[in-house]
Amino acid sequence: MPDSALLSRATLIIDQVSAENPADYVLRGVLGADKDLHPSEKRDISRAVFIYYRWFNWLDKAASTQSRVASALDLQRKFDADPSWFKPETLAARAVPEWVHSEIELTPDYLRHLQSDAALWVRVQKEFAAALPRSLGNLAPSPSPLIPESRRDTTLRYSGQTDLFRTPEFQQGVFEIQDLASQLVGYAAAPKPGETWWDTCAGEGGKTLHLSELMENKGLIWASDRNNGRLATLRKRAARAQVFNYRAVTWNGGPFLPTKTKFDGILIDAPCSGVGTWQRNPHARWTTTPNDVKELAEIQLQLLNHAAPALKPGGRLVYAVCTLTKSETTKVANAFSTAHPDLIPDPVFNGDPTTPSGPSQLHLWPHELNANGMFIAAWKRK
Ligand SMILES: C[S@@+](CC[C@H](N)C(=O)[O-])C[C@H]1O[C@@H](n2cnc3c(N)ncnc32)[C@H](O)[C@@H]1O
Repeated sequence: MPDSALLSRATLIIDQVSAENPADYVLRGVLGADKDLHPSEKRDISRAVFIYYRWFNWLDKAASTQSRVASALDLQRKFDADPSWFKPETLAARAVPEWVHSEIELTPDYLRHLQSDAALWVRVQKEFAAALPRSLGNLAPSPSPLIPESRRDTTLRYSGQTDLFRTPEFQQGVFEIQDLASQLVGYAAAPKPGETWWDTCAGEGGKTLHLSELMENKGLIWASDRNNGRLATLRKRAARAQVFNYRAVTWNGGPFLPTKTKFDGILIDAPCSGVGTWQRNPHARWTTTPNDVKELAEIQLQLLNHAAPALKPGGRLVYAVCTLTKSETTKVANAFSTAHPDLIPDPVFNGDPTTPSGPSQLHLWPHELNANGMFIAAWKRK
């Protein structure tokens, strides 16, 4: 696509974006409906829109949207050629909103990572782990030591150009597109075949499907969410992946639980401010507010408090959020620990023999993983 066409397509999309109509939502709507564009053109347009929001605070507010997009693309080229050209102080001042400074340790590596393109991760079902790299190509395993040895070949970074959603392998449920940090939540939960788990905020089922694979489709997962539309997508995804050991139910996060079952494990993949996804989704940097962080932290603590009584003695509770703010993450985990002396902090990765006594709260930093940022905490009931 010529540069001028790319600029005008990106401009048309940006002009429709607002706090109520986020960039990723507008992109999905506009590009999804366009049957004439080639997938590579759609990718270039998405990238240009995201680059615009990545460099938003560098751009001349008085200029036209189109010339601002062009400036953002120039800044990205300059950054990609030599990231050190941008001083960490400048990145700290412009790449994120001011309120973040008191919520996150903004290291130079973290800030530089925020300004680069996001990696794409897939999770292949174990039985197809050898075949998928041969059929798709451009797949490389993650070097993260947090992935159990036996699963190293199932977490793969894709660097090709094909639209993965259209591949027969995706449509047959051979693999899921799932960020590395999200996959690590499944490994932290470490459910065993035959156990009974509750995925309290299952959404569209990204983690439910992973838990099921780790349980070899044996045992039962209660997958709940307050959003029935998301649960409907979960059911479709489960059918595609041939996941059968789950029950999808509505739960609004309140004190009335969807079942009297006592669980071997509970995963609370809670709603959060999503700051850990700001590399992938830079528009959210400019729409997320300190008030969102405060309200979401309260909801997270409430979800933990309401779900915890359903844990069996000896059961494992895992709290995960794809954010890195102190108000969510550590403050919530510490407040919950204080209120529940019957729950003992447990190593996040206790399934890994190399870290049997590791930390019970862990930040997964995006620049270390080359993935989303995530916080995970774990407890065990006495
Ligand atoms: C981080 S997302 C879950 C993502 C999902 N676990 C996955 O891996 O695909 C958080 C989910 O919590 C749900 N949610 C938000 N508030 C809730 C509440 N008060 N009670 C229950 N679920 C809630 C949202 O609908 C959303 O699907």
